[in-house]
This record gives sequence, structure tokens and C-alpha cells, in this order.
Amino acid sequence: MQDAFQFEFGSIEFWILIIVIVAIFILVPGFLGAPWIPTKINTVRKILSMAEINPDDVVYDLGSGDGRIILTAAKEFHARSVGIEVNPLWVVWIRWRIRRLNLEDNVDVVWGDVFRKDLSEADVVTLYLSQITNDSLQHKLETELKPGTRVVSHTYTFDGWRPINADNQTQIHVYEIGNHRKSARAIKK
Ligand SMILES: C[S@@+](CC[C@H](N)C(=O)[O-])C[C@H]1O[C@@H](n2cnc3c(N)ncnc32)[C@H](O)[C@@H]1O
Repeated sequence: MQDAFQFEFGSIEFWILIIVIVAIFILVPGFLGAPWIPTKINTVRKILSMAEINPDDVVYDLGSGDGRIILTAAKEFHARSVGIEVNPLWVVWIRWRIRRLNLEDNVDVVWGDVFRKDLSEADVVTLYLSQITNDSLQHKLETELKPGTRVVSHTYTFDGWRPINADNQTQIHVYEIGNHRKSARAIKK
């Protein structure tokens, strides 16, 4: 007699599990914005330094993945941070990490689509998504974020916006809402 649930390499159940994992980590996020590709930890620190974060700032990471940006912002830059992530498994993982690191008062993660979340509280927004997603988010960022909010985009840019700072090596682009369509200040290479 067969077991009610078989889980062997190559079985139907095995392939269903693989398809579910690929869908959760690659297909759904890829369709909604970008698949998970983590930012190197040194680049995370560079992003947060270039954002000139101070402890009063609220940092939003749009598509927070495994939480490395929001956890580093709280641990090393003493800012309050919020992640928005569409992959529920990453949300569970980040919540567990927040508890382990006793960062409940400083870090939060919200499950959902960045296009449907209110970003107006942010002083700093970080994102590493895709060029198409940046293009689609541009109007939301421009209308929802308050003047002075820094938007730090890894790799991808915003058409028609001028960065106030950029690093060509790590491909970090820093914009400041209110100053983003005016002539750029000196751009550091
Ligand atoms: C390239 S990864 C970047 C992860 C993290 N920010 C980092 O820099 O390491 C993009 C992340 O955005 C998430 N994502 C993609 N589209 C999204 C959407 N519309 N709303 C929320 N999260 C999204 C993906 O699941 C993935 O974890």
C-alpha cells in the first residue's frame, strides 16, 4: 500500500514543492517587481551611508528580501526601519530575525505589494528592483514622499531625475525629493 503522502526525490510531491518555491521566490516577485537578488553587505552599508541616515530617520526598503537593509539600518545606523516584501517566507524570516536581535521597537516588515502601500512616512527610501519597476514607481514616489526624502536606488535609475550623489562602482544613485528635477549638485564618483 502506498503512503498517503510520498516525498521522494523526483516524485510528484517533490516537483510540486520545487514549483511552489520557484513561484514564491522568482515568478511572483519577478512579475510584481523583481526576483530576489541580495545586495552585498558592503554595498548595503554604502547605500545607508550615502543616504546620510540619522537616528530620527525612518528608512523604508521597497522589496526588503531577507531584511539585510532594514536590519542594518537599525543595528548600525540606529534608525527606525520598515520593509515591504511580497514574499511571505521572507516576511516570516525577517520577523524571526527582528525578535532574535531584539529590534521589535525599531524594525517592522509589512507583507504586500509596494505599489499598494503608503510610503509617506519615509525619510529615506531604498530600492533594488528593476528598471521597469523604477519607471512604474516613479510617479508614486514623486507624489507620495515629502520634500527632503532621500531615494537611494541600487543599479536602476529614474528617468528625468538628477542624482544629488552617485557611486559608479556600486551603482548607487541618491535622489532627494524636491531637488530631484532641478540641476544636480556636485556628483561624487
Ligand atoms: C533584488 S531583491 C532586493 C532585496 C533587498 N532589498 C536587498 O537589497 O538585498 C528584490 C526584492 O523585492 C521583492 N519584491 C519584488 N516586487 C515586489 C513588490 N511589488 N512588492 C514588494 N516586494 C517586492 C522581491 O521578493 C525581492 O525580495
